[in-house]
Amino acid sequence: MADIETLKQENRIFNPPAEFVGNATISGMEAYQAMCAKAEQDYEGFWATLANENIQWKKPFTKTLNESNAPFYKWFEDGQLNVSYNCLDRNLQNGNAGKTAVIFESDDGKSTRVTYQELHDKVCQFANGLKSLGIKRGDRVVIYMPMSVEGIAAMQACARIGATHSVVFGGFSAKSLQERIIDAGAVAVITADEQVRGGKQLPLKAIVDEAIAMGGCEHLKNVVIYQRTGANINFVEGRDRWMKDVVANQASTCEPEWVDAEHPLFILYTSGSTGKPKGVQHASGGYLLWAMLTMKWTFDIKPEDVFWCTADIGWVTGHTYIAYGPLAVGATQIVFEGVPTYPNAGRFWDMIARHKATIFYTAPTAIRSLIKAADADAAVHPKQYDLSSLRLLGSVGEPINPEAWMWYYRNIGNEKCPVVDTFWQTETGGHMITPLPGATPMVPGSCTLPLPGIMTAVVDETGNDLPNGQGGILVVKRPWPSMIRTIWNDPERFKKSYFPEELGGKIYLAGDGAVRNETTGYFTITGRIDDVLNVSGHRMGTMEIESALVANPLVAEAAVVGKPDETTGESICAFVVLKRSRPTGDEAKQIAKELRDWVGKEIGPIAKPKEIRFGDNLPKTRSGKIMRRLLRVLAKGEQITQDVSTLENPAILDQLKQAQ
Ligand code: WTA
Repeated sequence: MADIETLKQENRIFNPPAEFVGNATISGMEAYQAMCAKAEQDYEGFWATLANENIQWKKPFTKTLNESNAPFYKWFEDGQLNVSYNCLDRNLQNGNAGKTAVIFESDDGKSTRVTYQELHDKVCQFANGLKSLGIKRGDRVVIYMPMSVEGIAAMQACARIGATHSVVFGGFSAKSLQERIIDAGAVAVITADEQVRGGKQLPLKAIVDEAIAMGGCEHLKNVVIYQRTGANINFVEGRDRWMKDVVANQASTCEPEWVDAEHPLFILYTSGSTGKPKGVQHASGGYLLWAMLTMKWTFDIKPEDVFWCTADIGWVTGHTYIAYGPLAVGATQIVFEGVPTYPNAGRFWDMIARHKATIFYTAPTAIRSLIKAADADAAVHPKQYDLSSLRLLGSVGEPINPEAWMWYYRNIGNEKCPVVDTFWQTETGGHMITPLPGATPMVPGSCTLPLPGIMTAVVDETGNDLPNGQGGILVVKRPWPSMIRTIWNDPERFKKSYFPEELGGKIYLAGDGAVRNETTGYFTITGRIDDVLNVSGHRMGTMEIESALVANPLVAEAAVVGKPDETTGESICAFVVLKRSRPTGDEAKQIAKELRDWVGKEIGPIAKPKEIRFGDNLPKTRSGKIMRRLLRVLAKGEQITQDVSTLENPAILDQLKQAQ
């Protein structure tokens, strides 16, 4: 993470190109400010107009915002709609039936095109198939799928029949999957035999079997399997079905299930600072509205654009900016099955050139690793590829350091594409703070200003506004349509995590620190203020990893901290005390490897600690509290200069300096 002092001094400013401004949906700062002023003057009226203009309602709403049970806000609550209808049928009515909705490129480089008509038909057949299995409105369906047209169709099919989906990232382990199936009370899992990434075939169905075998999934009646590779799988009669059989003979039209605007569209699990992952629940109407508006405002989407968001559907970015947003605005988008480094690190650039992508949206981690790759091998340097189709670049998921921003701006955007550094979260449903490409002067490393209608502020612990220049905590002062509605099964945790009493109970606490520039008022995100790590743009709780470690029979105690990492932003460093004596040398290396694999099994490979250090104990205060701030310093390899007088056992600091 870039340190605040350097960011505060960042004074390079890049104005959006005049031509871009001229054609932009929100053109120029005055237009932006006028929209913000409108929202200030008549908040509900602002949102009501947009919701009427953008969504095709089955039954129009009469009430915009209901705050009577805050912080359980309701938006457009007496309106009725169907999200899939808005994403698909509307495009058939708008003359987009023959337009390409998805350009799908498989891991091995083959591409196929799917039109809006074809996608509509596929989704309807699948929706009818799900209904034939008895899946209905309000049921929860877990989706554990590779990046594929079928994965998107599965999400859309759930939306069509009013089932609430919960997509679980294909990199999560059987245990993580089982926990999510149980917490969501899912009646079905939609999966594939295998996924293909970087030339490797990786099991999915076998992991589903393992998850179910762990028990507790009695509510689960069906497993639907998309055949991706044709690998042999274990097939449980009566429970398992091939997707092709489920859709066979199904009609290619399906009357949508009209749901209330507040009907839960999806649950997506994400990490918090304590306990197990939380099921972030989103509503239908407000979420759809913001997916559409941010496609229009932040991405300035135009009918002829070829949009490419490189996220996975297992994360929120893949929900809003692959499965819903692009379809709801009738865009053509690229969907990619593979990884940026296969067959070589020029894959992204090659794909942009071949498919003539115009908008490219990726994570700083990918950018940083591709910078390294381009430095090491001129053959995969972006200058070898024709990237002239690009007109807009985006960044998401973690802070982008100014140097990576500059490289992206110069080498990928050729200094003619605005870069939108979009700050948002699983809980916010869509972008919150971001430059507008045809309006906002950009500063590398700053996500600049909130979107119109989004009332962000930097406050102190008691909720008082802080002056610009002073770092504090990031909050949102008014509810907005695409906000999290609750944590599935845990409304109390929802209130405590996001609307704490200390801030008055009505202000949304983002969990990030922020500072505003003294002159411009621009926001810079300074990183999480809780125990959440961001590794390669993936959110993980230190507690989750600690619990996984202590579940291993060898481990007595563990503490996990983040360490700044040049490529992944942060990396995971675990301090471990074993029940036996402290291992050293090869034995320590061996046990460290075992523990890493263990965490991979407990949570998923993304949670494996990069470093494991063993000690006879952890640094603790006399009252037994682990001193994490010292562990953070040790992880960085820096000298401890802080006061250690409250430390019970200073001698163990030396032991913990060494990584295994
Ligand atoms: C971080 C991803 C700085 C932040 C959409 C947030 C960012 C967490 C940015 C949410 C950005 C996301 N600049 N930090 N542009 N975007 N973050 O839920 O810490 O996976 O709280 O949503 O990522 O991660 P999540």
